[in-house]
Amino acid sequence: MHAFRHLYVHIPFCRHKCGYCDFNAYAGMDRLMPDYVDALEQELVFARERYPFQQLETVYIGGGTPSLLPAAEVSRLLEFIRRNFNIAPDAEVTLEANPASTDETKIAAWLEGGVNRLSLGVQGFDQRALAVLERKTDAAQAVRAFSLAREMGMSNVSIDLIYAVPFQSLETWLETLRRAIALGPDHVSTYCLSFEEGTLLHRRRAEGKVPEVETDLQWDQLDAACAELEAAGFRRYEVSNWSHPGFESRHNHAYWRCRPVYGAGAGAHSYATDGRRAWRWWNVARPREYVAAARSPRADGEELESRKATAESLMLGLRTADGMVAPGGFDSELRGLQRAGLIRRVEGRIVPTRRGMDLHNQIALAVL
Ligand SMILES: C[S@@+](CC[C@H](N)C(=O)[O-])C[C@H]1O[C@@H](n2cnc3c(N)ncnc32)[C@H](O)[C@@H]1O
Ligand code: SF4
Repeated sequence: MHAFRHLYVHIPFCRHKCGYCDFNAYAGMDRLMPDYVDALEQELVFARERYPFQQLETVYIGGGTPSLLPAAEVSRLLEFIRRNFNIAPDAEVTLEANPASTDETKIAAWLEGGVNRLSLGVQGFDQRALAVLERKTDAAQAVRAFSLAREMGMSNVSIDLIYAVPFQSLETWLETLRRAIALGPDHVSTYCLSFEEGTLLHRRRAEGKVPEVETDLQWDQLDAACAELEAAGFRRYEVSNWSHPGFESRHNHAYWRCRPVYGAGAGAHSYATDGRRAWRWWNVARPREYVAAARSPRADGEELESRKATAESLMLGLRTADGMVAPGGFDSELRGLQRAGLIRRVEGRIVPTRRGMDLHNQIALAVL
């Protein structure tokens, strides 16, 4: 098995469960936080004994809402990782934050603990869209959190935005993009709102309480994102991700390139490979069960059959603007994608066209 150089740590706590979100995240469990950090430490010790790790190139504290962890808990966790793993001096260390739980004390703890990239869940600036998303944060909080992080020395800040939200017009989305760009982020993620089964928003749409978003409007909003962000010097380096040169997310690149990533925490997934075979496994999802499981939180796993592993790497590699070297065994699928104008060949690589990025689900359908 190749050594892990990328570490993901899942923090499943949220102040409030947003109606659109089906992440492994829970509200009302804050009392579990100290035990949860203890359990993470145990899992990480166990992982270090059991699996090969080399110097870490990226660490990603994701969620849920990692910014909800009190400063003392997040400091303890970051220090533990630093003591037990060899983190490269130039490693990318990201933490996901919600503007409402981002304050001076916590930013100081993140910086002190080695966090050098902040991913801020802004989602939008207009009150109507934020209300549909049931966000408890407002535009002023987002601006305050962003500015504070910058003033205190966070050199790499990313903003998450969501489009195709019911009641969000092209104009309000444009306004959201412009306000986000005006803050001066290094990286912007724009997600098309997905209605996930089992979420409150999905139910509300089924009951007719929120309207469908017209497909034409979704395309116009995506076009607007491309135009505004490109004009501001951002490059669309992945289906939903834009950055200034040199600020592409290195951790997410590990997923898109199918590099081994160890995932710690409730519901976290790990991916490992020896170059020929690949494995995936995941932990128990519920935080209380995770804490109870202590050193062996693994729920289940699978070995990926070789064609499936290659198909996945193709599907993920074609999410990125730089594409990949074409793997063997998919000639007819790739010819079909090329004929459909979804990919093209550039200097021995296959890369998605603009159309291929916009319609990435069709690439996924064709190869999987
Ligand atoms: C784990 S959350 C980020 C941090 C923090 N919990 C927050 O919400 O502010 C990751 C991101 O996924 C996106 N997301 C979650 N559910 C989504 C959905 N149903 N459709 C589109 N984007 C979604 C949001 O943009 C969110 O910021
Ligand atoms: S979007 Fe973020 S804050 Fe909302 S429930 Fe999901 S993880 Fe939690």
